[in-house]
Amino acid sequence: MKAKNVERVYGHGSKEVRALKNINLTVPKNQLVALKGRSGSGKTTLLNIIGALDHPTNGSVYFGDQNIEGLSENQRVQLRREKLGFVFQSFGLVPLMTVEENVEFGLRIAGVPRGEWSDRIKDSIDMVKMTKRAKHRPYELSGGEQQRCAIARAIATKPALILADEPTGELDTKTAFHIMKVFRELVESNETTIIIATHDPAMMELTDHVYALEDGEIVKDEEKTLS
Ligand SMILES: Nc1ncnc2c1ncn2[C@@H]1O[C@H](COP(=O)(O)OP(=O)(O)OP(=O)(O)O)[C@@H](O)[C@H]1O
Ligand SMILES: [Mg+2]
Repeated sequence: MKAKNVERVYGHGSKEVRALKNINLTVPKNQLVALKGRSGSGKTTLLNIIGALDHPTNGSVYFGDQNIEGLSENQRVQLRREKLGFVFQSFGLVPLMTVEENVEFGLRIAGVPRGEWSDRIKDSIDMVKMTKRAKHRPYELSGGEQQRCAIARAIATKPALILADEPTGELDTKTAFHIMKVFRELVESNETTIIIATHDPAMMELTDHVYALEDGEIVKDEEKTLS
């Protein structure tokens, strides 16, 4: 994934907000990278643009050689469903569906063959330690449990790229570390590339690369050396 000269301006006139300014970012395959920055620095805006949920005002996002601005809206929907996994800051679970059904719904729209559903559902829910809550609906779950359900849904489809907006924001330290370990294993087994937005320095330590956003600009770009 590559972002080239990406800008995003919301509103106009006196209400104009330049949420992203000249973002250049290359994330190689099979890396786990973090976007950090204060509230309002542009993390969610950038994830939405990388994830083809929003259009940049200027600039482009590439997957391989494909400029996703060149895709039709239908092709962008296909790309999101089949190649991308999202963990939204607000989770985005379907309220009337159980944990299992939420994960299944993700598999259905991603076009995963039906024969693989039950294993994928079981495995992904197990990976986030939600097996005991699999038959519960979001309103019966704590914030952290809902967050883990959103993570299970995103990883179940084995997407090429996972975009996770503060995926450990609702979790206690131990569970947060566990989730990062799951992310690390997915990346190490060459299954996916993961971009997380996070405020948590302990989580950043577990990534390959940290990009710092400040007022919509990447101000720092640090290579991590994993010990
Ligand atoms: N739909 C919108 N209309 C106008 N301004 C917006 C809109 N969405 C975001 N913004 C502004 O763009 C800037 C970046 O917002 P963004 O949500 O990307 O920040 P963030 O880094 O994700 O913050 P947080 O850590 O609080 O989630 C903020 O100043 C925000 O007010
Ligand atoms: Mg945000």
